[in-house]
Amino acid sequence: MLDPEFVLDAAARERLRDRFGPDAEPWCDGLAGLVAGYCRRWGLELDEALSGGTSRVFLGRQDGARPVVLKLTPDRSIAESEAIALRAWARTPHAVDLLESEPEAGALLLDRVTPGTKAAAWPGLPPLEDFAELAASTGDYGLVHGDLHLSNILDGGPVRGLVAIDPRPSCGDRTWDAIDIAMARVTSAGELDDRISRITALVPGLNAGRLRQWCQATAVISVVQRLFRYRHDGAVPDKFLLDLAASACERLKGRSLTNRDLAVGGARLAAQVRQRHRLPLYRSA
Ligand SMILES: Nc1ncnc2c1ncn2[C@@H]1O[C@H](COP(=O)(O)OP(=O)(O)OP(=O)(O)O)[C@@H](O)[C@H]1O
Ligand SMILES: [Mg+2]
Repeated sequence: MLDPEFVLDAAARERLRDRFGPDAEPWCDGLAGLVAGYCRRWGLELDEALSGGTSRVFLGRQDGARPVVLKLTPDRSIAESEAIALRAWARTPHAVDLLESEPEAGALLLDRVTPGTKAAAWPGLPPLEDFAELAASTGDYGLVHGDLHLSNILDGGPVRGLVAIDPRPSCGDRTWDAIDIAMARVTSAGELDDRISRITALVPGLNAGRLRQWCQATAVISVVQRLFRYRHDGAVPDKFLLDLAASACERLKGRSLTNRDLAVGGARLAAQVRQRHRLPLYRSA
């Protein structure tokens, strides 16, 4: 019998409720049964539980030896698209290996990346050459990872290099996957331009002008997110980000906007998009 606190503590339940709304409750209630079922079927012993934004993740071992990760999400479309991308990337060492999947139940079994430290936890950026190798190899398959921030890039050790996890894949402009590393810890427009030049020189097929425009456009989203958070923690979005977001709006609308306009407009848009695209929530039987 699994400890219910281990399966899903109150904070993790709250996070899922926050993301998926009250519909997540029945899934949370059934999670212990789901986990126990996969432990039996896939021969798993679980050592540690981690809480993601859209899933519950368990680090463990398969057949008493192989380090694995069991990832369960209430939103089966997330598991389905993740499995499609990971299958497409089966031959590259720079994407995590998918061992088993039951996406219609929101379940994936992944190889555990070791040592597996997130690039976000490193004191500096990962070497851009290593990032370029990852981006070139996943991009070669015609897929955009879609969520390649530094917490979704793990250290796979000296031979394997960087390994991408947690894709939200799509077909589209591969330049998208370089936005997060271009923006990471940047504090001025000059620093951003320099970072963009270095990345686009290393990754074939990326265009510096387009990367800059993507950074501007997504700065609007980041500012809105931070302004929402600001209501809770009081942390003001930094001036560089606000300026970058404002420059995107000026470019698109041809008029000057205040930070408040940005927040209100962005928040409305975010609410509409969220409403419109809300996917039916999968419930375990
Ligand atoms: N294959 C793996 N090997 C090692 N660690 C992993 C692996 N998969 C996930 N993790 C760990 O679990 C955490 C959460 O996993 P993941 O990012 O896939 O979940 P998520 O719910 O999509 O999270 P979020 O939405 O917050 O990004 C990762 O940040 C990482 O620390
Ligand atoms: Mg993640």
